[in-house]
Amino acid sequence: MTDPAPARLVVLISGSGSNLQALLEATANPAYGATVVAVGADRDGIAGLDHAAAAGIPTFVDSVKAYPTRDDWDAALTGHVAAYHPDLVISAGFLKLVGKQFLDAFGDRYINTHNALLPAFPGIHGPRDALAYGVKVAGATLFFVDAGVDTGPIIAQTVVPVLDDDTEGTLTERIKVAERAQLVEFVGRLVREGWTIEDRKVRIP
Ligand code: GRF
Repeated sequence: MTDPAPARLVVLISGSGSNLQALLEATANPAYGATVVAVGADRDGIAGLDHAAAAGIPTFVDSVKAYPTRDDWDAALTGHVAAYHPDLVISAGFLKLVGKQFLDAFGDRYINTHNALLPAFPGIHGPRDALAYGVKVAGATLFFVDAGVDTGPIIAQTVVPVLDDDTEGTLTERIKVAERAQLVEFVGRLVREGWTIEDRKVRIP
């Protein structure tokens, strides 16, 4: 029996792309079961786009300000992602909330990694907010995106300690190491094993 075709991943980024890089390294192994077919961004000039181009992967940029309305941007992004027929769409540090058209098209297979232990500290300053609150553990959450801000069904969480002398920078970096490992592990499991969601509970058989 021949192996099934690798699952098709579209990865959306806004920054350095270290999570994307980790996925690119994992997908180099055919046994991982997935391949990154395109990388999209909401801005030019970011390192993640260079990583993708260096790996020979098609890229596209949809900047919100390039479109007359947010709905137009959402439609364009949806179209660009759809053109690559993804099995899974991964927000890996993509700093934009997608709209209804995107969720209608991909809401059953759009996942995001967030650098806090949800439901605590949603939004774009997870590590800073965790540090300010004085929590003793922090971490990252992988979840299916819904219409809320960091509110969708949780796939996995990983925990790191918060140290007394942490700064936002040191805590952010410690979280990112655990976050990358979690992303690689669970994207692989999702594409190889499938999943169910019932009453918010995500189960991978
Ligand atoms: C991740 O820590 C993610 O949780 C946050 O932004 C970071 C992206 O990092 N929203 P990178 O671009 O993958 O290096």
